[in-house]
Amino acid sequence: MTGLSDSFHRPIDYLRISVTDRCNLRCFYCMPEKGVPLLPRENVLSYEEIARVAAAAVGLGISKLRLTGGEPLVRAGLVDLVSMLAAIPGLDDLSLTTNGLLLAGLASDLKKAGLRRVNVSLDTFNPERFRRITGGDGPEAVLKGIEAAGEVGLDPVKVNTVVMPGVNDDELLAFGQRSVKGWHVRFIEIMPFGQALGLPALPAPRIASRLEEAFGPLSPALSRGCGPARYFRLPGSRGTIGFISPVSQHFCFACNRLRLTAEGRLRPCLLNDTEVNLRSPLSAGASAEELKGLIRQVVASKPLKHRLEENRPLDLKRMSRLGG
Ligand code: 5AD
Ligand code: SF4
Repeated sequence: MTGLSDSFHRPIDYLRISVTDRCNLRCFYCMPEKGVPLLPRENVLSYEEIARVAAAAVGLGISKLRLTGGEPLVRAGLVDLVSMLAAIPGLDDLSLTTNGLLLAGLASDLKKAGLRRVNVSLDTFNPERFRRITGGDGPEAVLKGIEAAGEVGLDPVKVNTVVMPGVNDDELLAFGQRSVKGWHVRFIEIMPFGQALGLPALPAPRIASRLEEAFGPLSPALSRGCGPARYFRLPGSRGTIGFISPVSQHFCFACNRLRLTAEGRLRPCLLNDTEVNLRSPLSAGASAEELKGLIRQVVASKPLKHRLEENRPLDLKRMSRLGG
């Protein structure tokens, strides 16, 4: 396989696929409380269309796929899509990012269908705070989802925590404690766009020093994935702590990914509204070769870096349509 690389010689081997813009939560940094206008269902790619794009991408050298949303598990029949994708020859990794609410009931079927692993979003252990952040009930169902995923072997299960000063930063040690017991926790710096515009972030070094005060020194750990997190381990810990700092330590230089939105737009960068519409060619019956040509065009248009640190308000599409 020749592999794909962009005009800055970055290898591109990872495609994130948003399967729906719908979600069963309303995290305040992602969606307005009242929700957002939803895409008409007929505008959302069918599973068959998603699988055609994925197969073309894998044919070009993409080896890792991740399903995202919105919340991917709210889309009916998602397990069928997992089976279709798992059958693509040449795929190394197939994963899913979820808020975990529906995971306990689906973990076993997802695993059987060929899903390798999951990332679960969890920002708090406190039910009242969970309601304030997400608008929904938790975290009990999410914790059950994390447990079920581990039991059926969807591992490593990673827990994604968006750290917000004054909102949930008093729970850093509780997450640290879980990491000592075996969780792989990743602290995510908030990206100031869309609903999250103007929200303060807690930089990774500050999070690290708070953890170190309580638990002792963090030591570097081997990378546990194909993404931008940097990993560490607390003393005597079975799990790891990861830091994802899109703004303060931007990682565009190592970006390896493309994104497919729920409505079939292929984007070379989350934080840039350049995109190519694949839905029309898909519904017009585009061949695998034609799809590959369009994918190559998107890879060639991948920008060098995002401009979040310029502090200009970015007029970007909503996170729930882009898939994080
Ligand atoms: N900044 C950082 N993370 C975000 N997420 C959603 N919106 C933002 C933002 N503005 C996170 C979710 C989830 C993942 C898919 O993206 O909490 O963990
Ligand atoms: Fe839903 Fe994820 Fe957005 Fe929260 S961050 S509202 S769980 S899509």
